[in-house]
Amino acid sequence: MTSNNLDAKITAAAEMILKSRRLVVFTGAGISTESGIPDFRGPGGIWTRFDPDDFTIQKFLKSRETRRKQWQILIGEGLFSRVKPNRAHMAIAELEILGRLECVITQNIDNLHQEAGNSPDRVFELHGNMQWVKCLDCGTRYTVEHIKERLDRGVEVPECERCQGILKPDVVFFGEELPSEALRAATEYSTHCDLFLVVGSSLVVYPAALMPGYAREAGAQLIIVNIGGTPYDSSATILIEEKAGDVMSRMVEKVREMI
Ligand code: APR
Ligand code: ZN
Repeated sequence: MTSNNLDAKITAAAEMILKSRRLVVFTGAGISTESGIPDFRGPGGIWTRFDPDDFTIQKFLKSRETRRKQWQILIGEGLFSRVKPNRAHMAIAELEILGRLECVITQNIDNLHQEAGNSPDRVFELHGNMQWVKCLDCGTRYTVEHIKERLDRGVEVPECERCQGILKPDVVFFGEELPSEALRAATEYSTHCDLFLVVGSSLVVYPAALMPGYAREAGAQLIIVNIGGTPYDSSATILIEEKAGDVMSRMVEKVREMI
């Protein structure tokens, strides 16, 4: 894409944000790659190196060995490491400060929207949040830092310190239900928005990927910022296949100038 063409698209998107009354932003792993967290289906993504079938809740519960492997991958892929929000997260937080954002619906578990400054009650995490690890037997919750200390001390499969039960990160594994309140709120906001902005998602995992469809059915316009195709590209009013950090920071800068 030529830089004029890109600039024209970013300006058009900023104008749509300015005109919108109910903007919903929907994010996926692609918004966090510039913070150092790998995505899943982009080049070199996690599912290009590991089998998603190993990450079902059934496998996690079935054997200690699959739990050991999964804890190793979660650590090895940096899902436990302290990372910082990048320019794309900061731009979306600024949209809230500018009074232009209804909510963020995210598939990510990294807490980076909250760390960038979005109000937690305006961030709906469809796949949970990596900050907590929960005992499946007695419900005790541990911070991820506490569990990481034990893993760093060589514990391979952390168990509950109270009841020796199975500990599981408070995130949604394949085969698990999504958190009902987050799914309800995300559906509600998606069906009542007038502009739906997707940043960094391949839009192939359901039911999260229903949200842009709900928005379109409600008459909202769709903007997609994503490197690589998605099944919704043909119904996007604006499609920008460039890096989210650069695009989103320039888009919000234009919104700020136009206000
Ligand atoms: N800028 C723009 N797009 C990017 C960037 C970037 N810096 N980095 C990656 N991308 C794109 C990738 O090319 C890919 O198309 O972001 C998209 C990320 O898609 P996925 O890796 O499929 O991630 P996501 O859509 O969030 O996956 C949904 O699948 O495995 C489950 O639970 C997991 O929440 C995840 C869900
Ligand atoms: Zn327990």
